[in-house]
Amino acid sequence: MSSQFIEKARQVESRASEAFKAATSEAELEAARIAFLGARGLFAELMKELGQLPNEVRPQAGGEANRARKKATEVYQAAKEALERGAVSEDSLDVTLPGRRPAPGRRHIISRTTAEICAIFAQLGFSIVEGPEVETDYYNFEALNFPPDHPSRDMQDTFFVSRDLLLRTHTSPMQVRSMEKSRPPVWVVAPGKTYRRDSDISHSPMFHQVEGLLVDRGITFADLKGILTSFAASMFSPDTKIRLRPSFFPFTEPSAEVDIACVLCGGRGCRLCGDSGWLEILGSGMVDPNVYAFVNYDPEEFSGFAFGLGVERVAMLKYGLDDIRMFYESDLRFLAQF
Ligand code: DAH
Repeated sequence: MSSQFIEKARQVESRASEAFKAATSEAELEAARIAFLGARGLFAELMKELGQLPNEVRPQAGGEANRARKKATEVYQAAKEALERGAVSEDSLDVTLPGRRPAPGRRHIISRTTAEICAIFAQLGFSIVEGPEVETDYYNFEALNFPPDHPSRDMQDTFFVSRDLLLRTHTSPMQVRSMEKSRPPVWVVAPGKTYRRDSDISHSPMFHQVEGLLVDRGITFADLKGILTSFAASMFSPDTKIRLRPSFFPFTEPSAEVDIACVLCGGRGCRLCGDSGWLEILGSGMVDPNVYAFVNYDPEEFSGFAFGLGVERVAMLKYGLDDIRMFYESDLRFLAQF
C-alpha cells in the first residue's frame, strides 16, 4: 500500500517538473501549476489519499509526498523566473522612451565640394568627363609638353606603376583625352583623384582636382578671367575678387596662378593669407600651341584656356580648415560637421 503511494508521489513529481520546464509562456506555466499544485491539483489529490493510509505507514508516506511537492514547487519557481527574465512583459516595456536614431551615412565633404564645383561649371555650359587614374607617361607628361627632364617627372613626385604607367599626378591628361575625342568647341571639366609622393599638413599623397578646358574660335584671356570670376562668386561669395599672377606651366602659354581675396579678412591681411590679403586657388593659362600639335588642332584656327584647381584647397578655404589630413582620418566628429 505505502510503496504504491510513494511510487505515485514520485511520478506526479516528475510529470509536474516536466510540464513546468516545457512551458513556453506564463499562461502555459500557470495552467500547469493549477493542474499539479492547485487546490484541486494532483498533489492535493495525493494528500487526500494519504488520509486513507493505515496509521503506521502514514508518517513515512506523508514525508515522501511532502518532499515530492516541495521539489515540484522549486522547479515551478525556477521556470517562472526564467520566463520572466526572457520575456518582455507590458510592465518592462516603456513605449514613451525615445527611439534610437539610426546614424545615416552622408557624402564626404570632398565629394560634396567636387560636386559643387562641377555644378557651377555645368551651369556655365561645361560638360563633366572622367578618365583613368592609372595613366600613361604620354597623357600625363609628353602630350602636355613636359620636356623629358622636367622636374615634375622626377621620382620624388610621381608614383610609377611601370616604366610607362603611373598614377596621374594631375587631371590635366584629360585635356588631351578630351581634345582627341572631339573637335572644338570643347567645354569640359574633369574631376578626379590625383597622386603625388608628398605628405604633410598641406599635402596628401592622394588628393582631388577639377580640370577645366574650353577651346573654340576666338577664345581669349579675358574669357578665362570672366569664367573664373564667375566661379569664385558662386563658390565663395558674390563679390569675391580674383587676381591673376604670371606663372609657368608646360602646357599653357601664357600661364597664370589665380588668387581669390582672402575669405577671412576680405583682403586686409590676416594669419590665413599671411598678411597678403590673397589666397591661391588654382593654376591656369591659354592652351600651349605645342599641345594642340598632339591632338591635330590648328592653333591658327582655335584658341582656348585651361585651369586646374585643388578640391581640398577649395574646401579648406571655404570651411576654414588648416590641416588637409583631417579629410582622410575618417573621424566622424569631424566629418559629421558638414
Ligand atoms: N595641372 C597643374 C597642377 O596640377 C594645374 C594646372 C595649371 C592645370 C594650369 C591647368 C592649367 O589646366 O592650365 O599643378
